[in-house]
Amino acid sequence: MSTPRTLRKQEADAGAASRTPAERPPGSTAWAFIPERPTLPALAKAAQACTACDLYQRATQAVMGAGPAGARLMLVGEQPGDKEDLAGQPFVGPAGRLLDELLEAAGIGRREVYLTNAVKHFKWEPRGKVRLHQKPTLREVTACRPWLETEISLVRPQGIVCLGATAYQALRGSQARLTRERGQFFDTPWGSWLTATFHPAAVLRMPDAAKRREARAQLQHDLERVARRLAAA
Ligand code: URA
Repeated sequence: MSTPRTLRKQEADAGAASRTPAERPPGSTAWAFIPERPTLPALAKAAQACTACDLYQRATQAVMGAGPAGARLMLVGEQPGDKEDLAGQPFVGPAGRLLDELLEAAGIGRREVYLTNAVKHFKWEPRGKVRLHQKPTLREVTACRPWLETEISLVRPQGIVCLGATAYQALRGSQARLTRERGQFFDTPWGSWLTATFHPAAVLRMPDAAKRREARAQLQHDLERVARRLAAA
């Protein structure tokens, strides 16, 4: 099986970074765009040139993670939303505000947290004047994974919290099931533990008020367990 490093070399050798979308080899990923000696600022700059899938064509910019390089906790969402796409920062819209509230209630300071997404470009379709969020495909998530893996290896967080199924499957494989495994803790190849919970945007989207309250309480409970695990380390 190819390791990310051999894949990266093969793709770089194949000139994957310089191909147009029509010429892109099937299954190619962002490895060809990752700088040889990555740092978080270098990564954020390099991501602006990424054409590993088609999402760059309609997005304003690539939105990389934000937070301190030595953060103890990494939170991974799905992809930037409309507000994030325009601002160039993750979690600055309504889902981010709910997340801030719940993190504070759990006693997790924003300065301890590195926030990022599984996919770095906003995927959307027009609906009247609105840019409506679309779920990224497995191909898009896979193409984007080198950015996330490199962020993890630079930040080296103690723990990773996947917010929603897209982030969870990006890091644990397409067989992983959030509904079955929510709140469990797993080891990862990066030395961090990993757990998954609901995405705050999914909580906000729930039409039924009682269900919304329940999901919010579950998300809060999961973040409190994360805070206790961080405190125990
Ligand atoms: N939803 C996400 O998954 N990420 C963001 O940055 C914003 C909303």
